[in-house]
Amino acid sequence: MKASKLYPESKVELTPFIARHYDRLLNLLSFGAYGGFIARAAGEIGIQKEDSILDLGCGTGRNAALMLEQLGPSGKIKGLDVLQEMQEQFERRFEKEARVTFLRQRIDVTFDLNEKFDLVFISFVLHGFPQSVRKIILENARRHLRQDGRLVILDYAEFSLHQRSFIFRYIFRKFECAYALDFIESDWKRILGELGFRVEGEKYYFRNIIRLLKARLVNEVKLSASG
Ligand SMILES: C[S@@+](CC[C@H](N)C(=O)[O-])C[C@H]1O[C@@H](n2cnc3c(N)ncnc32)[C@H](O)[C@@H]1O
Repeated sequence: MKASKLYPESKVELTPFIARHYDRLLNLLSFGAYGGFIARAAGEIGIQKEDSILDLGCGTGRNAALMLEQLGPSGKIKGLDVLQEMQEQFERRFEKEARVTFLRQRIDVTFDLNEKFDLVFISFVLHGFPQSVRKIILENARRHLRQDGRLVILDYAEFSLHQRSFIFRYIFRKFECAYALDFIESDWKRILGELGFRVEGEKYYFRNIIRLLKARLVNEVKLSASG
């Protein structure tokens, strides 16, 4: 069956082929640099041993495996993804690990797991959706966080494409979602503030193209007319 996209410009809605070979493709395209980068970023999330973590758009479980290394016996991770190919790889990876579970769930629609987490992690997912949908995803994150819970977003940083080299601009436009173009130009600290989060830290990678943004849930939600 041919999978159809919910959002035509999205490239985070992967084809079954790309999903099946996702980790290998990332290693290949990054000339082997991805493994070291993601291990470093996972180490900078600030995971506590007892954390319960919700991983939105968890993919193959590669990030979850790195987060799991930092958890103690009471810590746990729940990965959510829409693709069967991701479910198969994720469940295979954690076959013998009771602390990690998977749920086939769309994250771009409102859902409620009736469960609260210490940390919601979302990696290379948000840029691939229209802004209105990103807000639904972040509302889902908010709904599943305990009071004072943390949201960690690993994704593109804010930067101006115009100030990058011609070759960078070409590759970015060719391989990235059209949606990513407005993601990189959005003021995420302001947007997160409006959605009830306070940004507490950030780390940059790959010449400031990628950012790990760490925020905490605060109670007050500012209402804004702007997108
Ligand atoms: C670019 S991959 C990132 C995977 C993983 N977070 C990582 O950093 O390796 C995007 C992931 O989002 C998932 N995804 C795309 N649309 C989704 C949706 N509507 N609901 C849940 N997951 C979705 C894809 O199946 C894929 O696993």
